[in-house]
Amino acid sequence: MSRERARATVDARVETTLRPLSAFEEAEAGNGTTPSVQWSQSKPPALDFFAGGGLASEALRSSFSIVWANDICEKKAETYSANHPAEKLTVGSIEDVRGQDLPYAALSWASFPCQDLSLAGNLHGIESSRSGLVWEWLRVMDEMEFRPKVVVAENVVGLVSASQGRHYLALHAALSDRGYRVGAVVLDAARWVPQSRARVFVVGVASTNIPNTLVAEGPTWCHNTAVARIAEHAHDFVWWTLREPRRKPRALQQIVDFRVPTHTEPQSKRNLGLIPPHHRSRMDAQVNCQANVFPGYKRTRGGKQVLELRFDNKAGCLRTPQGGSSRQYLVLCKDGNRFTRLVTVREAARLMGVRDSYRVIGSYNEGYKAMGDGVAVPVVRYLARQLLLPLAEI
Ligand SMILES: C[S@@+](CC[C@H](N)C(=O)[O-])C[C@H]1O[C@@H](n2cnc3c(N)ncnc32)[C@H](O)[C@@H]1O
Repeated sequence: MSRERARATVDARVETTLRPLSAFEEAEAGNGTTPSVQWSQSKPPALDFFAGGGLASEALRSSFSIVWANDICEKKAETYSANHPAEKLTVGSIEDVRGQDLPYAALSWASFPCQDLSLAGNLHGIESSRSGLVWEWLRVMDEMEFRPKVVVAENVVGLVSASQGRHYLALHAALSDRGYRVGAVVLDAARWVPQSRARVFVVGVASTNIPNTLVAEGPTWCHNTAVARIAEHAHDFVWWTLREPRRKPRALQQIVDFRVPTHTEPQSKRNLGLIPPHHRSRMDAQVNCQANVFPGYKRTRGGKQVLELRFDNKAGCLRTPQGGSSRQYLVLCKDGNRFTRLVTVREAARLMGVRDSYRVIGSYNEGYKAMGDGVAVPVVRYLARQLLLPLAEI
């Protein structure tokens, strides 16, 4: 079945089974088996859809207790389970998940696949086979006895910027139709870690009683121009706001492990030879070779392969290694000379704000993918403390 037909089927099924918002309100008022009665833990329960190698769970755990998680990838599931042994992870497609089987949760998190919304992907959009799995997430929640009070869908900025925001608007409308008050924030991980990684977090809450402190009148530091533009077309857009983080992120040099072997001299020379002249001269202008690390990606420009570097002391956004061009290089100094090498899995984990004791299972590509596909842990931890937990506790 095509994703469009699947979505239509989902919508049709939802229409017949849609529970009115009053179901939440009844639950909140203490009628029947109330969600609050089921909060026996000190932290509100949360579901982690598309849990991958577990970075969202890792971050959310400081504010929520993860009562269920799901991912289709067995390899990532190994990493998930190695780090979150107490959490219940179901390995398989979301298409096989039935909402009736899930435990009650206050929060439902979905970092749904981004390939169809990403510039590095195909931009086929939110109805296509991979990013379109977000409709399965909605279908599962529709099948639950109580839909979670707070929902978050996380993805690349293409969700709000591509196709004049059409993908975001479809998701916004679907959540609004289900009784959620919805808005989106854009947070760049570079505020927490030395990696440029802007992501959209679509947040909805099934409550009309939102504290003023969590909402602004219009765009703030956590909204980009694409969000500001599409908000005008979104029904009852909520300008979620967070306190601006003040702490400076760790420096890139603190994340790099200088003991890791570099490429050999001839291989490094070949890579250095791919650096375009204007980047080469900027690099050579840095006299203190020892103190500098330049991250970069190989790209094809005008039919030629080049190694483009960054000079802002941040790594570029980690990508998932399907081919050579998605691996990030480092140019660094050894004995006064420049060498190259790939970013290691541990460095990739650090760039995602992951603790060093986090176990990453599998080959280089598998480990790098589990990290590069994840959410930046301190970003989600911040969002959870500043916004999601207060919303869950309304
Ligand atoms: C953006 S990644 C999620 C990253 C994860 N939340 C983290 O922070 O580590 C998207 C995930 O969707 C999973 N996925 C893809 N198709 C799926 C399906 N049909 N059912 C369940 N999970 C799926 C992928 O394996 C991938 O781990």
